[in-house]
Amino acid sequence: MSKFKVTVVGAGNVGATAAQRIVEKQLADVVLIDIVDGLPQGKALDMMQSAATEGFDTHITGTNDYTDTADSDVVVITAGIARKPGMSRDDLLKTNANIVGSVTEQIVAHSPNAIIVVVSNPLDVMTQLAWKKSGLDSKRVIGMAGVLDSSRYACFIAEALNCSIKDVRAMVLGGHGDTMVPVPQYTTVNGISITELLPAETIEAINDRTRHGGAEIVKFLKTGSAYYAPSASAVAMVEAILLDSGRILPCCALLQGEYGVNNLYCGVPAVLGREGVRKVIEIPLNESELADLQNSVAAVKELSDQL
Ligand code: NAI
Ligand code: 2OP
Repeated sequence: MSKFKVTVVGAGNVGATAAQRIVEKQLADVVLIDIVDGLPQGKALDMMQSAATEGFDTHITGTNDYTDTADSDVVVITAGIARKPGMSRDDLLKTNANIVGSVTEQIVAHSPNAIIVVVSNPLDVMTQLAWKKSGLDSKRVIGMAGVLDSSRYACFIAEALNCSIKDVRAMVLGGHGDTMVPVPQYTTVNGISITELLPAETIEAINDRTRHGGAEIVKFLKTGSAYYAPSASAVAMVEAILLDSGRILPCCALLQGEYGVNNLYCGVPAVLGREGVRKVIEIPLNESELADLQNSVAAVKELSDQL
């Protein structure tokens, strides 16, 4: 048994893989909940039967009943539908808004002190919606996208430089969509900016591939979207929160004046700890990065207004 309890809502690809990573890392006991009867129960039992081989003492329960989620420390919301080929994340708006809205109300009713990490798409708007529905302080409702987008960026940079991924620190800001903003000046290999290591055209090609990193995978999978890197990214945030680590991770957080944006959730670097977002970090951006960020913020705002 762990001293922490994490609920993962949605026992699909991202949710089940995130749950697996959390119990295998022994970060917390997990409650996996879904609307489909038997799905979370079956997956949880299967994972418990891997404990002897994997060697973890944490516990996972599958359920369709929110009373089992009571008093969770962190709740990860992955419920919703995922993209199919030809669909943008924005096509998911209305269906996922209904799902995320009702899930959030039930979560908060049973775990009023939880930190909520939203994964469902379209990410920035779903996070804003979850915050509004929850009635919680905005620092307790955070979206996951920047860790994933930065992780994809890092992967492509390590590949281009044939260097160790362990030395790459990548930064992607803005909304989780085609307007996201990879920031080369703050993307480094052991402290050296990639602008010193790669020609501008190569960086631009990598930026572009990063912006379409999710679609590239959807095109291969045909029946769903990525989940290994997304689940790893969500769990990195859960770990930073539970361990009160103070890691600076790119997160979808409520902006209240930072970067000239008011009352809108968008991707920015943030310090994570036990209380959720400890602080949003404002970094100096050059003119073109700032314009790109403003463009991305406008895209998020437009979608948000559609709700
Ligand atoms: P999936 O289809 O494999 O799983 C979704 C699960 O949600 C299903 O098991 C479904 O039964 C469940 N569900 C639907 N309505 C529910 C409700 N009211 N209550 C509880 N469970 C409910 O989809 P996948 O691949 O796991 O993706 C989940 C979401 O995460 C999608 O919206 C996807 O677009 C998004 N996503 C976001 C990423 C990000 O970077 N923010 C990255 C990857 C996926
Ligand atoms: C991704 O970026 C679909 O948002 C999901 O893979």
